[in-house]
Amino acid sequence: MIAARNIAASSKSLSKLSSVRMHIKCRGGFYPRTDDKVPRAEVPDDKVEWSAPFPDYTPKQYTAPHILAGPVYADPDIGNMHGRTGITGRGALGRWGPNHAADPIVTRWKIAGNLVVKGETGKPILQFVCIQRRDCGDWAIPGGMVDPGEQVSATLLREFLEEALNSLEMTEDDKNRTEKKLKDFFKAGEEVYRGYVDDRRNTDNAWMETVAYNFHENDQGGLLYSLNLHAGDDAQAVKWQDISSQINLYASHRDFIQKVAENQNAHW
Ligand code: BGC
Repeated sequence: MIAARNIAASSKSLSKLSSVRMHIKCRGGFYPRTDDKVPRAEVPDDKVEWSAPFPDYTPKQYTAPHILAGPVYADPDIGNMHGRTGITGRGALGRWGPNHAADPIVTRWKIAGNLVVKGETGKPILQFVCIQRRDCGDWAIPGGMVDPGEQVSATLLREFLEEALNSLEMTEDDKNRTEKKLKDFFKAGEEVYRGYVDDRRNTDNAWMETVAYNFHENDQGGLLYSLNLHAGDDAQAVKWQDISSQINLYASHRDFIQKVAENQNAHW
C-alpha cells in the first residue's frame, strides 16, 4: 500500500513523460480481485520504462484462476498455443502473439483453344496466380501483412496489385484504372482458411496467422484471361501455376490451394 501512495504523490513528476503517465494505476499495491494476496513488485518512477536498466526486477507471474479454467475467450496457459518452436522472442516478426496476413488465391481454368484442359484425374485443371518470394525464393500466394487498421478485403486487393501487377511502379492513372477493373471481381471471394500458419518465422511468442480467400474467374472471356502479370514489391517473379498435388509452396499455402481445388472440384 505504501508503494501505491508514493506513486500517487509523485504522479506530477511523471506527467511530463507521456509513456509513463499510463503506469499510475497499474503499479504498486496488490493486483485487483486477489483479496490483497498478490502484490506487485515495486517499480520506482525512474524504472518504469523498459529502457531503464533494472536487474533486480523480479515480478511475480500471476494468472487468475478463472482465466486458468479456460473460458472460451482465454488463451491456453502457454505461449504459442500450437506448440513449441524451439525459439523464443519475436524472431523476424514485428508483433508479439499473432501477426496478421491475408492471401488472395486468384484462379481460372486452364484453357487450350477454347477447351478446358483436364488432368490425369479426369478433372479440369485450375491455375492460380503464383509469385516467387524475394526473401526466400519459395513460390507462394501473393499475400502480405494486414496494415494496422486496414480491412482484410483491402489487404487482399492491395497485395495482389502490388505483387502480381506491380502497381507500386504504375502511374497513378494506370493504378486507379487497374484497381477499378479488379474491385468488383475481388468482391466475390470465398473464404478458404482463417488461422494459424506453419511459417518458418514463427517462434514460441510470435507467429503468423492469415485469412485466405479464393477469387475465381469462370468466364473464358473474363478479366483474368487478359491480365498482364508483372511481379513487384516482395515478389521477384509471377506466373499462372497449374494446380496439382505436385506443387510445393511457401508456409501452409499448399494446403490452401488443395482446399480450393477440392471446393472447385478441380484436378489435384
Ligand atoms: C505472406 C503470406 C503468408 C503469411 C504467413 C506473409 O508474410 O505474405 O502469404 O500466408 O506470411 O505465412
